[in-house]
Amino acid sequence: MTQVVVATAIMRNGQVLAQQRAFPSADAGRWEFPGGRVEPGESEEAAVVRECREELGVDVKTGQRIGPEVPLRNGMVLRLYTATLVDENAEPVAVEHSAVKWVGAGEIDDVPWLDADLAFLPDLTEIVRKD
Ligand code: C5P
Repeated sequence: MTQVVVATAIMRNGQVLAQQRAFPSADAGRWEFPGGRVEPGESEEAAVVRECREELGVDVKTGQRIGPEVPLRNGMVLRLYTATLVDENAEPVAVEHSAVKWVGAGEIDDVPWLDADLAFLPDLTEIVRKD
């Protein structure tokens, strides 16, 4: 079966959360939407919740899937879900990454994203703009 990697666009007040990778060295310094591999028997929505807890220390509610399915190396595919913080006042922290930041719709295109994540920007910018 195809290994799905979920990525999460956490939205709050017209901004989306980006996190900066610390590893591997080829990706270090680039930004991504938080996420990771869906585990066997796990739903994609549940993987979003688990990964945000692990990587950011916050609880999220998974929203809708948006944008294309992006092929990754080794036959994996990347799918993006929107999400909102369960506690709007909770601040995500970079548990495994270098940094996190909130990005407004007008700044999304200026972030040095991982190549795979670039495919989501057109659909995402439209949704963040309406948030
Ligand atoms: O985070 P993790 O290593 O589990 O991610 C699996 C793969 O998905 C990695 O190759 C990573 O670079 C890629 N990925 C991505 N964009 C994301 C999240 C993960 O390209 N937003």
